[in-house]
Amino acid sequence: MFNGMYHVITSSPNKDGLTAAAGQAAIDGITSAGGSAELIDISDPAQILEPCRVCGNGWGTCRNTAKCVIEDKILEKIQLTIKDSKGVFIITPVYFGQSSERMKYFIDRYRRCEAFRQGGSWAAGKQFNLVAAAGGSGNGTASCLVELENWARHVGAVPQERIGITRFNRETVLKVIEDAGARLVKGEYFGR
Ligand SMILES: Cc1cc2nc3c(=O)[nH]c(=O)nc-3n(C[C@H](O)[C@H](O)[C@H](O)COP(=O)(O)O)c2cc1C
Repeated sequence: MFNGMYHVITSSPNKDGLTAAAGQAAIDGITSAGGSAELIDISDPAQILEPCRVCGNGWGTCRNTAKCVIEDKILEKIQLTIKDSKGVFIITPVYFGQSSERMKYFIDRYRRCEAFRQGGSWAAGKQFNLVAAAGGSGNGTASCLVELENWARHVGAVPQERIGITRFNRETVLKVIEDAGARLVKGEYFGR
């Protein structure tokens, strides 16, 4: 239960913002319970991450190959990472009530590749904690989490916590995120 790596995928350009704080809380929780965690920040604009091209008639070749035609590498790398991951946090800033555009690029393409993978999605059965960081009014936290939950289910993952963090509840919910990280490692979701 205590072996293997957990992953925290974030997507905010602000290195000291709410998303970053949530990512650190997730890592702290995982490590406090004896797990090892790796941060994957997909926000770096120098790292090419293109949107889905919606190839063919809408169903691209990814449906059969589980591989995107865009060779920007980051997607394939994360596909392989999740395949071997013990558990994943997806942490996005809330923009317009949705995930950040970069997170959307990632989740859109990842879903197309994994949802129909022959033999099953590489995310199948894996526990995911979903976090929406809404630093403005807090509006759109819920819609963002719904989007992430639907995505997780499309790729066969098992959504565990759906956590909305705002600038108003920040200190309290950082502790909730930390606790969720610890519980991933302790197996307190699948153990029930
Ligand atoms: C384009 C854009 C759209 C945003 N939309 C929302 C929103 O719908 N609801 C909200 O509460 N905050 C919104 N915000 C504020 C962000 O959620 C806020 O900046 C948050 O702190 C992002 O995380 P960060 O601190 O990691 O950047 C928006 C910010 C930007 C830049």
